[in-house]
Parts: sequence; C-alpha cells; structure tokens
Amino acid sequence: MSRRAVAVAGASAVALAAGAAAWWHTDRAPYPYSQRRLLDLPLPFLTSRHLDAMLDPQPGERILEIGPGTGLQALHVARELGDHGRLDIVDIQDEMLSHVMRRATEPGSAPIVPTRADARELPFPDGGFDAAYLVTVLGEIPDPGAVLGELHRVLAPSGRLVVGEFFDRHYVPFTDLLRYADHAGLQLSGRLGPPLAYLARLRPCCSGHARYQEGRT
Ligand SMILES: C[S@@+](CC[C@H](N)C(=O)[O-])C[C@H]1O[C@@H](n2cnc3c(N)ncnc32)[C@H](O)[C@@H]1O
Repeated sequence: MSRRAVAVAGASAVALAAGAAAWWHTDRAPYPYSQRRLLDLPLPFLTSRHLDAMLDPQPGERILEIGPGTGLQALHVARELGDHGRLDIVDIQDEMLSHVMRRATEPGSAPIVPTRADARELPFPDGGFDAAYLVTVLGEIPDPGAVLGELHRVLAPSGRLVVGEFFDRHYVPFTDLLRYADHAGLQLSGRLGPPLAYLARLRPCCSGHARYQEGRT
C-alpha cells in the first residue's frame, strides 16, 4: 500500500471513530422498540426493592411514570398502589405504551392510564401527582432540565420524584442531576446505589420552575 493510501485509510478510521464517539454522546433518539427484550432484564441496583425504598408508593396514591418502556417498573408499582390508586404512564412511543397495557392484567393492581406525550410538555394540570419516577430515561431526552421543570409542576407540593440512572450511553452523572434539579426547584432527599447505578429522590423546594423558564428566555 502506498503511503498516500495508508494516510487516507488512517484519516478515514479517525473520522469514523470521531463520528461514532459523537453519536455515542449526543444521539437522543428514543430507545428502539425493536430492542425491547433487553428492557425486561433488571439492571444491577435499579431493582424493584430499591425503587420501593426511594419512591415509597402507598395504596391509593396517584403516581406518574415517564418512559415506562416495556413496563418493568410500571407493573410492580401498579401492584403496590392497589386498586384504589392510579398509575399514569407517559411515553413518546405508542408501541411502548401498548406493550405495557397488554401486560397490565393483574387483578388488585391500580389501573394504568397511558398517555402519549413528550416529557418536556406534560399534558397534566399542576400539582396532581403524589409522586413521579423515571428510570434510565432522563438522559435520553434532549433538555433534561425541562423534564425536571415539568415534573416539578405536576407534582403536589409535598410530592417526591425518583430518578434512576445507569451507566449507559445516556447516563446522567449524579452531579449533573443535582444541577438540573437545582434549576428546576427540586432538592435531594435521598440516594441509593453507587455512582454508576443510582436512584435519587428529589422533592419540590422552591419556585425553580419559574426560575428555569425565565432562564430560557
Ligand atoms: C431506555 S428506555 C427505559 C424504559 C424503562 N424505564 C426501563 O427502565 O426499563 C427509555 C424510555 O423513555 C422513552 N422516551 C424517550 N424519550 C422520551 C420523551 N421525550 N418523552 C417521553 N418518553 C420518552 C422511550 O420511548 C423509552 O420507553
């Protein structure tokens, strides 16, 4: 191979690697439904037991899940809420919502109510939820701060929000979460798990949503 061919091949390999690295860090496409089977495998530390410890779902409550995927957490939380509770699930992909609804057949569980929407603009009035949670979702959505701002808005003043993150390509480091939360007027009230697979509980503390919106204009 000539020196020129070697140089061209080297430059192409570098360009490909740079493209792959950029995709890894910046791609924000929703998790593909075609790979849904992987979502049925519980991730280390992000177990139902740990979610219960942070979210503390109580019978009769109304809770919101963003990005339920195939329902790994939703079916469990609906069971905890009992038939007087209600679990709303919001996803940007209809296939995910339909998948959860096909599985939601357990007697005694809370009704699950699906809504197709973008978590950056939740179609709910202010203050209607006792709690909300999202697991391995936040980093997949462009503008995570806007998502936390919306969640603050729809939570009751005494509400709680649990964010689960795992070290995949959309991972939100804990320090970044604290920064987004601060802008959104949420403060940390608990954390479980190591830095690369954590659940954090946040509570409304101040008028951060207004602050956040002002900051964007
Ligand atoms: C990686 S999956 C996580 C699924 C589930 N929480 C779990 O832990 O198995 C991310 C989910 O977020 C949803 N999602 C992505 N972007 C969204 C958005 N902007 N608004 C609402 N849901 C979104 C995807 O469709 C998908 O169901």
